[in-house]
Amino acid sequence: MATVIDGKAVAQTIRSEIADEVRLLSQKYGKVPGLAVVIVGNRKDSQSYVGMKRKACAELGIKSFDIDLPEEASEAEIIKNVHELNANPDVHGILVQLPLPKHVNEENVLTEISLTKDVDGFHPLNIGKLAMKGRDPLFLPCTPKGCLELLSRSGVSIKGKNAVVVGRSNIVGLPASLLLLKADATVTIVHSHTSQPENIIREADIVIAAAGQAKMIKGSWIKPGAAVIDVGTNSVDDPTRKSGYRLVGDVDFEEVSKVAGWITPVPGGVGPMTVTMLLKNTLEGAKRTIE
Ligand code: GUN
Repeated sequence: MATVIDGKAVAQTIRSEIADEVRLLSQKYGKVPGLAVVIVGNRKDSQSYVGMKRKACAELGIKSFDIDLPEEASEAEIIKNVHELNANPDVHGILVQLPLPKHVNEENVLTEISLTKDVDGFHPLNIGKLAMKGRDPLFLPCTPKGCLELLSRSGVSIKGKNAVVVGRSNIVGLPASLLLLKADATVTIVHSHTSQPENIIREADIVIAAAGQAKMIKGSWIKPGAAVIDVGTNSVDDPTRKSGYRLVGDVDFEEVSKVAGWITPVPGGVGPMTVTMLLKNTLEGAKRTIE
């Protein structure tokens, strides 16, 4: 049976380390880290993610700046807000929740975020540096950073291993593959046009699943002893729950946990780590300007 990696516990440990550092900064310089969270429109999933991020800030003593814009907000209006946050010395990190409404060009907005405040690591220049050997972005994207942190805190080494990333999104799959490459893994990305992905996944010592397909990765696809990190958060109907739904990952946990060496559960695996890495990036950004 696989070791189940408790993301919630790891996240809690890191959060208390961050809270200590925030207190120290405040005592020494009279300043606290500030994170601006910008949300445009009323998407339920985005509202829920943003709520978690703002709540976590409050718990750690990080000041959150809440910018809520209506669905109809123009690209120019969103960019104007970003420019104001860039100029605000109390704001050390800026996060624009994605996806943005269809009439807004995401890249135009992300490119306007100051590189020194790009705590999501989504600025094209930060992603470009992530892709290049010998260059280091100022910030690493939160979800991939959380995945690697879970591997390292579980004692799973990456160097020289075969790693397979399932999915190639700008937010998770692509930056996760670049981060694994930087950590000296041999990296393969499988995606919706890959024929027989199971044959490639079976070769993997490390699997990062970020396809957005409920339980698609089966026990027979996994090399015995592999480390399996499940980024999927798929909502499926569950009439036995009061909410009427429950969250499941991209990995068939019941099957895969019998074969893998390590596995992350959904919920309670990668999710709490993503928010924690955002807080950590905000602290790092603040330290760079305050200290
Ligand atoms: N939408 C889904 N995940 C993320 C994330 O990590 N950051 C932002 N900004 N938007 C998201």
